Amino acid sequence: MVDLKPRCGLPIKFDPATMQVSFGKEIDDPLCGTRELDALRPLLLDPDASGPECLYWMYRYLFAKGDRPLLLGKHRLRYDMSCFVSGKLGREYMKTSGHYHPPVFEYGGIGYPEVYEIEHGEALFLMQRVDDFRAGPDEVKVLDVIALRAGPGDKAIMPPDYGHVTVIVGDEPLVMTNWVSDDFSSYYGSTEACRGFAYYVVDEGGEPQFVPNKTYKRGVPEIRYARPKEVPELGLTRDKPMYLACKENPHLFAFLNRPWDFEQLMWQGLYIEEER
Ligand SMILES: [Fe+2]
Repeated sequence: MVDLKPRCGLPIKFDPATMQVSFGKEIDDPLCGTRELDALRPLLLDPDASGPECLYWMYRYLFAKGDRPLLLGKHRLRYDMSCFVSGKLGREYMKTSGHYHPPVFEYGGIGYPEVYEIEHGEALFLMQRVDDFRAGPDEVKVLDVIALRAGPGDKAIMPPDYGHVTVIVGDEPLVMTNWVSDDFSSYYGSTEACRGFAYYVVDEGGEPQFVPNKTYKRGVPEIRYARPKEVPELGLTRDKPMYLACKENPHLFAFLNRPWDFEQLMWQGLYIEEER
């Protein structure tokens, strides 16, 4: 059992061998869900790849007892945890289905962002901005692709209007948490029609390699590589679990509901590396 408390700030233990999670009694029962391999098949480079039946477990509305009225009720923020098996599906690294967030206002404008914290294992976030996230593979134009690699303690900001998929690149299972606005539902539709994101991440001698997804008929841009950076103004530092940072200063996480006021600060969280 790995004690995740030093990392996430909540009394949670995780067993990488069985993927079992145990929540301390100070935590309200979260909502649990799973994602099965069959649901992911349409998004894989090899839809017939073999792998475990269940690929990841999601625990939504994870709050310590007594925190819900302030954080969820007043600030409209949701804290979730997800646990992913590691390994390959064919040549491809294990991944999530990937999704987009809608704009904050129905009539358009900037979309909802999100922030992840890595508790165990290693993640590679592939983010992409497109001209229309509801458009199919023949019409959609991919404007930008960013690959952000993150490890334990890192906070990874998904900026507004960037769809994101999480790729599990380490040998260990991945455990990560997120803070996100509770005022929207993610959009999955077009990622399935496009058979995933702009690139597939495959294992090439132990290192991630990016294979362009040819389903995007208008082509895909070059990848920009990034590393996560601390943004203390948003409560995001490596040494502090972001659950506690938000509990102590929920106003620092207002960027998740009012992203237009914090765009520059959010981009400070992504250090874009020079050309490789
Ligand atoms: Fe998201």
